Amino acid sequence: MTTWREFWDNPHSIYVNDRHKDVHYRDIAEAIAAFVPSLDARVLDHGCGEAIHADIVANAARSLYLCDAAPSVRAAIATRFAAEPKIKVLTPEDVERLPDASFDLIVANSLVQYLNADELTRALALWRRLLAPGGALIVADIIPPDLGPASDVIALMRYAAANGFLLAALVGLARTALSPYRRLRNELGIARYGEAEFLQRLRTAGFAAQRLSRNLEHNPARMTFRARVA
Ligand SMILES: C[S@@+](CC[C@H](N)C(=O)[O-])C[C@H]1O[C@@H](n2cnc3c(N)ncnc32)[C@H](O)[C@@H]1O
Repeated sequence: MTTWREFWDNPHSIYVNDRHKDVHYRDIAEAIAAFVPSLDARVLDHGCGEAIHADIVANAARSLYLCDAAPSVRAAIATRFAAEPKIKVLTPEDVERLPDASFDLIVANSLVQYLNADELTRALALWRRLLAPGGALIVADIIPPDLGPASDVIALMRYAAANGFLLAALVGLARTALSPYRRLRNELGIARYGEAEFLQRLRTAGFAAQRLSRNLEHNPARMTFRARVA
């Protein structure tokens, strides 16, 4: 396995057990739903992952487009939500072909760290084109340059303790230390941005942006930004 795309397209142990995956995707879906501006909103979740509770977002919106680069991930969500008329599953190439102003809310949680600088520039231009006037882009879980691995470990342990999977998290931690994820992180690296640097990138892409006081995900040391077309 040599790329992040291949990593996400294959079985992995990022979620330490089913309980972890369930609470993770429920929390993400509830957080995204809280950003949906109205029941009439059209929403894109870009890099959605397994999104097993995407129905929570769909129930708060007119439509929800789920985009993920990994074919196996898309196949699983397409099967899961086949009977949900508000949910559509798309490839990144499908998203690129959508008309301007297709969405009122675009969310990318825990995606940017797996994009290189050129891919981020292209994604920001795409999201700007796809946002309707007044719409918002939420880019979340951005990792600052100085954040060490201990921060992720502590955040995961707190999250696990609060959600009843602490033992599994401890076992999972040992597994992750030896996993392809750790190896790929060392080999391919992971994109990191400081607050000022990321705000500047958003501005350069034509957004007016701010960092929100809380990260969308469970690690409070990572950052979430809200951006609107300037
Ligand atoms: C860490 S997971 C995050 C999943 C989900 N957003 C969440 O909050 O749990 C990253 C996801 O981004 C997807 N991904 C990576 N590069 C992508 C790209 N260029 N376009 C769309 N999805 C991508 C991966 O396949 C993977 O499912």
